[in-house]
Amino acid sequence: MKGVVLISGSGSNLQSLIDNASSIDLSIEAVISNKKEAFGLQRAQQSNIPTHALDHKLFSSREDFDQNLSQLIGQYNPDIVILAGFMRILTAEFTQKYTGKMLNIHPSLLPKFQGLNTHQRALDAGEKEHGVSVHFVTAELDGGPIIAQSKIKVLANDDVESLAKRILIEEHKLFPEVIHWFTQDRLKLEKNQATLDGQLL
Ligand code: GRF
Repeated sequence: MKGVVLISGSGSNLQSLIDNASSIDLSIEAVISNKKEAFGLQRAQQSNIPTHALDHKLFSSREDFDQNLSQLIGQYNPDIVILAGFMRILTAEFTQKYTGKMLNIHPSLLPKFQGLNTHQRALDAGEKEHGVSVHFVTAELDGGPIIAQSKIKVLANDDVESLAKRILIEEHKLFPEVIHWFTQDRLKLEKNQATLDGQLL
């Protein structure tokens, strides 16, 4: 199955998809970043994957950026659009274009801690458990139907860095697994609910 991956940063999740691509039947056709300095672009280039930097600051509006992004993605005609640390709020028009075929990974146990700084907020709230979620993308930021989560225990001496480190390890396992469900045609978005093999998740 053909996928386009959107990133904004380090791209460690992208790397886990590159490393697992053949076993999860994913052909990464292109990687697009809204930041030209994103290290993930170098990771893609090292694996001979076409890359594009589309700087959101060069566009007059969110709509304008999203239209250009959508045009770029469209050139690759992907079956799946993967948000792997893509730190942009997307317009409803853009998300609707890819309903049921766009997945995001978010470092919290959604619906808790949508948005930014999830590890600090989990610590501030005194959470005993924290984790990561993969969900279908809808117009609501980090609010689409949840597909799968991995949990970790929050330890007494945890800080943002230690949580981020342990959660990334979970992310790198969970995201390829969920994407494999999708490439096997087992994962669907039906009536705004995620299903696996026809069963509600
Ligand atoms: C991850 O924690 C992901 O869940 C979040 O942004 C981070 C991206 O990390 N959306 P990386 O660029 O994949 O290393």
